[in-house]
Amino acid sequence: MASLRFLPPPQSQNLNSLSTDFVNRRVSYPQQQLNFTKITALTNSDSSSPLLDSKTQVLDVVPLLSSSEAYERLKTFREKIKGKQQYLAMYSSIFGGITTDPAVMVIPMDDHMVHRGHGVFDTAAIMDGYLCSLDQHLDRFLNSALRSKIDPPFDRENIRRILIQTVSASKCRNGSLRYWLSAGPGDFQLSPSGGHESALYAIVIKDLSPAVVTPESRGVKVITSSIPIKHPMFAVTKSVNYLPNVLSKMEAEEAGAFVGIWLDNEGFVAEGPSMNVAFVNKEKELIMPHFDKILSGCTAKRVLALAECLLKQGKLTGIRVKNVTVEEGKEADEMMLIGSGVLVCPVVQWDEQVIGDGKEGHITQALFDLIVEDMKSGPPIVRTLVPY
Ligand SMILES: Cc1ncc(COP(=O)(O)O)c(C=O)c1O
Repeated sequence: MASLRFLPPPQSQNLNSLSTDFVNRRVSYPQQQLNFTKITALTNSDSSSPLLDSKTQVLDVVPLLSSSEAYERLKTFREKIKGKQQYLAMYSSIFGGITTDPAVMVIPMDDHMVHRGHGVFDTAAIMDGYLCSLDQHLDRFLNSALRSKIDPPFDRENIRRILIQTVSASKCRNGSLRYWLSAGPGDFQLSPSGGHESALYAIVIKDLSPAVVTPESRGVKVITSSIPIKHPMFAVTKSVNYLPNVLSKMEAEEAGAFVGIWLDNEGFVAEGPSMNVAFVNKEKELIMPHFDKILSGCTAKRVLALAECLLKQGKLTGIRVKNVTVEEGKEADEMMLIGSGVLVCPVVQWDEQVIGDGKEGHITQALFDLIVEDMKSGPPIVRTLVPY
């Protein structure tokens, strides 16, 4: 079958890059008041042709699908994706239950979280059949919802119960749980004041990528982010509006770095796009920026508590949450990124400045060991048993 594609009218289209095997035919679409050029492949219908990338291969007739056909296509789509992550279970308050079929792990188009970014989310790691720091994440989740004027569809206890049952249904013992509170579906207005209900979604993810941390791979480079930091009012809320975070991460990747570090409006060190930052200065104090203009990291707060034992052992002389200047940060003996995704990750270079001796520092290593130990065998306040 010939490959077909629609292009804007010829005057705005540069055809030089197209194959001479194509001819242009004028096709009008009266109903849509459109006038596009339909380009039909005469001889070159091979979909693997380098001249045709997947973006240009558009069917001439978009099929109208029955619901079972749409479902079959969703299923095929999911089966075809050989991603690094597997979705084991999803809860949705829209269908009021849990599914383990990835094809139906979807949310409605008119959900305000989709078209207005009016939603908040949080996470919790699943380790050896326990949910890590679930209650701390849940507190932040509900605070984010409150700041975003989202009235949850259930109270805290019920949300907690739903999350644990979703993990249980997934049978996942090592992975992660992500959950969202949304202003909910109902219309495409700006404000959700149309009277519709908020929605809760949760998904259990099994990460299929190989073990992330090896001693040799520890130690990353960071850059100062040029993407504007979020206003404190938004930075303290874990909303779904992560565009600045995404762009900051992409900017770092393009520069061969792991992440960008944001500075606040006064030029003090703030945070990374999905993690907090901490330093060990020359006086062997653990220093961390205040949480009033950045996200209150559950991992960073736990690290502050666990670091007390290094203080007792004399490995640290102090633990301080304070304004940290860039100069102080770059001159520190150790710098680290802290978050649920990276746990405690050493930074060995910030922009052109090598941090300390350019290797993972002893305190960073000790804090990493402490947080891993805490996740594996810490007290009940940081470990919630999942009944499978
Ligand atoms: C912007 C930002 N800062 C910090 C963190 C670290 O928070 P946590 O330790 O709770 O993962 C995250 C991760 O959620 C984040 O997105």
